[in-house]
Amino acid sequence: MPKKIAAGNWKMNGTRAAVSEAMAIGQADAGDCVVILCPPATLLTVLSDARLALGGQYCHAETSGAHTGDISAPMLADAGATYCITGHSERRADHGETDADVRAQTQAAWNAGLIAILCIGETLEQREAGETLAVLEGQLNGSLPDGATADNTIIAYEPVWAIGTGKVASAAQVAEVHDALRAQVGPRMSLLYGGSVKAGNAAELFALTNVDGALVGGASLKAADFVPIIEALA
Ligand code: G3P
Repeated sequence: MPKKIAAGNWKMNGTRAAVSEAMAIGQADAGDCVVILCPPATLLTVLSDARLALGGQYCHAETSGAHTGDISAPMLADAGATYCITGHSERRADHGETDADVRAQTQAAWNAGLIAILCIGETLEQREAGETLAVLEGQLNGSLPDGATADNTIIAYEPVWAIGTGKVASAAQVAEVHDALRAQVGPRMSLLYGGSVKAGNAAELFALTNVDGALVGGASLKAADFVPIIEALA
């Protein structure tokens, strides 16, 4: 069985004032569900006492060097991360990251002992053109290195048009994609949905056969919003 996973992606949000929220999230009754928080890298060591698994939001493909402003996978691991998001659509759009870049970053995450949370997702234009499944298959083939297993990789399906827009994909849309992904990655790899997940829509999404959890942005910032999502999965 794939692991059930509730992951929060704080993106570029959170200072030490938010530590109490993370601590409260760590108190959620998570049952057999793994709770992961991906805060800004500045908070990783600060959150070492939280009852949470921690993840980075990105890692450079190299381990060290002259890359001002970047962060490497070994640095994330050293700061307490055991996971790392790779290929988030905001990185692909804001930083021009290609599938080949994401593939190298995912490999770097593995090399540092991190579990990659690899994100894929189609744009609205691609969906409207009927290209969704082909785009996702291409992204997965292009950005997942050889050697992916259920132990080193989690896949997050995040339709770009549903991120931060309040527009969640319908259960039928999510089911179609996740069933196709399941056929591609095998029975054990966890498949997360991401895009405007909230307490009010989480249960319907988690009831789908091939949805093993969620990667949550805005609704992971406050314990009052994230804990009910975790409890819906647990
Ligand atoms: O990585 C999570 C994400 O992109 C979804 O963000 O704010 O729509 O939950 P949000």
